[in-house]
Amino acid sequence: MADLDDLREGSRFGVGVPVANQSFHMKGCDNLSWGMKDRLSRVFNPKTGKSVMLAFDHGFIMGPTSGLERIDLNIAPLMEYADCLMCSRGILQSSVPANTNKPICLRADAGTTILTGLNDNVIIDVEDAIRLNASVMAVMLAIGDSAMEAKTVANLYRAADAGAKYGIPVMGITAVGTDMARDSRYFSLASRVCAENGANIVKTYYCDGFENVVASCPVPIVIAGGKKLEELDALELCYKAINDGASGVDMGRNVFQSENPIAMIQAVSAVVHEGMTPKQAFELYETIAKK
Ligand code: 5RP
Repeated sequence: MADLDDLREGSRFGVGVPVANQSFHMKGCDNLSWGMKDRLSRVFNPKTGKSVMLAFDHGFIMGPTSGLERIDLNIAPLMEYADCLMCSRGILQSSVPANTNKPICLRADAGTTILTGLNDNVIIDVEDAIRLNASVMAVMLAIGDSAMEAKTVANLYRAADAGAKYGIPVMGITAVGTDMARDSRYFSLASRVCAENGANIVKTYYCDGFENVVASCPVPIVIAGGKKLEELDALELCYKAINDGASGVDMGRNVFQSENPIAMIQAVSAVVHEGMTPKQAFELYETIAKK
C-alpha cells in the first residue's frame, strides 16, 4: 500500500505521474475549474507540459491552401503524431473521423476571407463547440488594427465567458496579417492583452527576445510556424521557442508543406517533448523520410 510520502514523491508510480498535492502542470492554470484542467491536460501532455498541435485551419480564410487540398490524403496520416488537431468546424465534421480520438482546438471565430483582409467578426455558438466536443476554442485578435482591434478583443472576451461557463479553455491568437515585421514589444503587448481578456493559452510567433514575451504572459504560449522554411530551419525555430519558454507549437505549413510531413511532425515532436537539438531532430527527420 502506498503511504502519503510515496504519493508526494510519486516514487512507486514513476516520474511524471500526477500526485495528490502537486500543482497543475501549466502556468497560470491552478485556479481553473476541473473541467478546464481536464481539457488542457488532453492537449498539453502532463509529463512534459508541452504540446504539438497540428494546425490545418488555414482554409477557413485562405481556401484550399497548398498541402491542404485533400484533408483525407494530406492531413489524416499525420493525426496520430499530433497531441491536438486545430481546424474549423466544417473540416472537423466533414473530414476528421470521429474515432480519431484526439483533442480538438476548434477555430471558433469567423468573418471574412483573405480576399478582403483580416476582419473576423463573430464567434461560433459555444453549444456548437460542446456538440463537437472541443477541448479548446481558438479566437483571433487583430491587435494594432484600428478597424478590427476592439471587435476582436470583444470576441475573445465573449468566448472566454462562454468557455468559463462550460469549462472549455480559450486560445487567443495574435494575428499579424501580412505584416510579419513585428518585434517582441508587439508580441508581448498582444500576448498580454489576450491573457488579460481571459485567454487560457496564447498562440503567437517566435521573435528575437521571445523569452520576454513568455515572461510577461501569465498563461502558456504556443508558437505558430508561419511561412514554410527549410526543415532544419523550422526545427531550429521550434527548438529556440521551447528553449525560451514556449509550451509547444501549433504548426501548420512547416509540417504539411514539408517534403515529408510524416517525418517532419515526428521530428517536431522530438524537439518539443524530448528536447532533441535541431541537428538530432533533422537526423531523425531524414531517417524516417528514407523509410
Ligand atoms: C492563423 C492560424 C494558423 O493556424 C497558424 O498560422 C498556424 O499555421 P502556420 O504554422 O502555417 O503559421 O491560427 O490564424
